[in-house]
Amino acid sequence: MKKLSLVLAATVVCAPLWMSSAQAQFAKPEDAIKYRQSAFSMLSTHMSRLQPVLKGQVAFDAAAVKANVAVIQTLSTLPWSAFGAGTQGTSSAKPEIWSDAAGFKAAQQKFQASVVQLSAAADSGDLSKLRSAAGDVGASCKACHDSYRAKK
Ligand code: HEC
Repeated sequence: MKKLSLVLAATVVCAPLWMSSAQAQFAKPEDAIKYRQSAFSMLSTHMSRLQPVLKGQVAFDAAAVKANVAVIQTLSTLPWSAFGAGTQGTSSAKPEIWSDAAGFKAAQQKFQASVVQLSAAADSGDLSKLRSAAGDVGASCKACHDSYRAKK
């Protein structure tokens, strides 16, 4: 019993510390905005690299495609932690990201699920599967932009 209460006490003491360190991962709101925009920009670059393969302009190099899709998969996890409180108002991120947090989360999850499918398609080495999965990823980028990214 004594042990348990010690553990509980430690949890209570540590939880706020852990939370504050998680929130302090960006020193300034501008850093968070730069981070998420950079991740999106790199996503765009790596999605574009698939285009010549999808269009049949270059030979389907399965290993190169898999390596590129692995980068996309990692990038697909990065922008979201950079949409914290205090980072709205000065970029193309619409206020709906914060006022409709559940909808924004759903758009993220749909996108990440489509990237998991893209990865499976890349592993299959089947070009027609890759085309269809890449189309779904592109559609989920666009769906989120339509609702949550301001047009410049
Ligand atoms: C769940 C929502 C969501 C998804 C999914 C999403 N984006 Fe975005 N994207 C945004 C938001 C919001 C911004 C604006 C960020 C800002 O300016 O703070 C943005 C900005 C961008 C930008 C501009 C970055 C800059 O330099 O300002 C590019 C390029 C981009 N996204 C590409 C993509 C691509 C490509 C995909 C899919 C592979 C994608 N996005 C998926 C929400 C999303």
